Amino acid sequence: MDRRSFVKGCTVAASLLAGGPALAAMPADASPRSYPRVQLLNERGQPLRTAELEAGAQYVFAYPFPATPCFLLDLGRPAPGREGLETEAGARYDWPGGVGPDRTVVAYSAICAHKLAHPTRGISYISYRPPRLDDDPATGVISCCAENSQYDPFAGATVLSGPAPQPLAAILLEHDPASDGLHAVGTLGGEQFQRFFTEFEARLSLEYPNGNARTLLDGATEVRRMEDFSANVVSC
Ligand code: FES
Repeated sequence: MDRRSFVKGCTVAASLLAGGPALAAMPADASPRSYPRVQLLNERGQPLRTAELEAGAQYVFAYPFPATPCFLLDLGRPAPGREGLETEAGARYDWPGGVGPDRTVVAYSAICAHKLAHPTRGISYISYRPPRLDDDPATGVISCCAENSQYDPFAGATVLSGPAPQPLAAILLEHDPASDGLHAVGTLGGEQFQRFFTEFEARLSLEYPNGNARTLLDGATEVRRMEDFSANVVSC
């Protein structure tokens, strides 16, 4: 099944969500959820091509809301799909794998599934860590240093270790082979958006004085290197 057909199977339509700022309730199952189709742009404001991504580097973009950060990674080797992932509530789902010419490009919500650590302008306790010298060179983890949860970006961000109760929510991407461009179109798995907006309401009201922190993005979103997005990136 191609990505577009996959997302069309969503039980919650983006058109319903786009009607207002309210967040939809989490589905009883873990079906993919459609959000507005948003083009990924590079830091020059041009459509991002996957060929521009540096394998092993980490990038951040906002989706599906201006205040909710996501990771974009070119893992440098194909990420085939993974079946049988499970949310904390016990809903099972299958992650469709990476996109791009070699299926190496993946995206995940950067909000930790444990206590919601996420990249901010000042600091990020959660980040992608390429393999270290003694590690298998074909590995790499998304590591949350707040309380040491680790996720496998090659396998739908399934939990490798630590207190996280479920994988990071996956961001569904569409890749256009003709332009090599990317669009974000939805999410898959256990979203944390409701918790996120409740937990950080006070801070977000200062960062988004117009109240648009939870207004769904539409059109385009800028992709930045993590080190350009966050002043201090904690690695562990
Ligand atoms: S917030 Fe990430 S491990 Fe606790």
